Amino acid sequence: MNKIVVSVAFAVILLIGINKIADTIYNVEKPEKSAYQVTSSTTVDSTNTSETNSENLESESIMALFASVSATDGAKVFSKCKACHSIAKDGGNKIGPALWGVIGRNAGAVTDYKYSKAMLAHGKKWSFEEMNGFLIKPKEWVQGTKMSYAGLKDAKDRAAVILYMNENSDNPLPVQ
Ligand code: HEC
Repeated sequence: MNKIVVSVAFAVILLIGINKIADTIYNVEKPEKSAYQVTSSTTVDSTNTSETNSENLESESIMALFASVSATDGAKVFSKCKACHSIAKDGGNKIGPALWGVIGRNAGAVTDYKYSKAMLAHGKKWSFEEMNGFLIKPKEWVQGTKMSYAGLKDAKDRAAVILYMNENSDNPLPVQ
């Protein structure tokens, strides 16, 4: 009889012990688990974004970014272009063509500027989307261009400078 009592008691103690261990493991694992979940959902999110981040959405987002930038920001960004471009009305050509009114006009349209064959062949209209694509990496967008500029990596910088160029025009395009 005594033996039974002892072994039952032992079994109970063992059970409590296992529960405690299980609790400890559970408590330790819990934060790890939720941390993992956060990471995995972040991964899923970014996959979705890159999947849907087609060129169309990229260009829509440049329009959306206009709301969060100003032409004043753009004027600052344009200081990177000033060495080669004038933006003022009646500003002449420098190393690059005069940029007054460039948004909305055709690529390669300044008559007294000697463009590269690549830019003349490009011939597209400088829409917001077209300009955004060009400014990311000019040499990739217009292969063979003689504009020696790496590009503007930051989408906000591009949006700001595009907004600024659009305002420096006789006929700014609607930004909405
Ligand atoms: C090192 C000089 C240089 C810098 C810096 C530079 N550009 Fe240019 N850019 C050029 C040249 C040269 C061309 C003519 C390209 C060609 O004919 O292939 C050009 C062409 C352009 C065109 C096409 C204009 C047209 O009439 O079709 C745009 C738009 C333009 N640049 C915008 C910019 C902006 C915005 C920046 C600053 C973020 C910038 N560039 C910085 C040299 C430069």
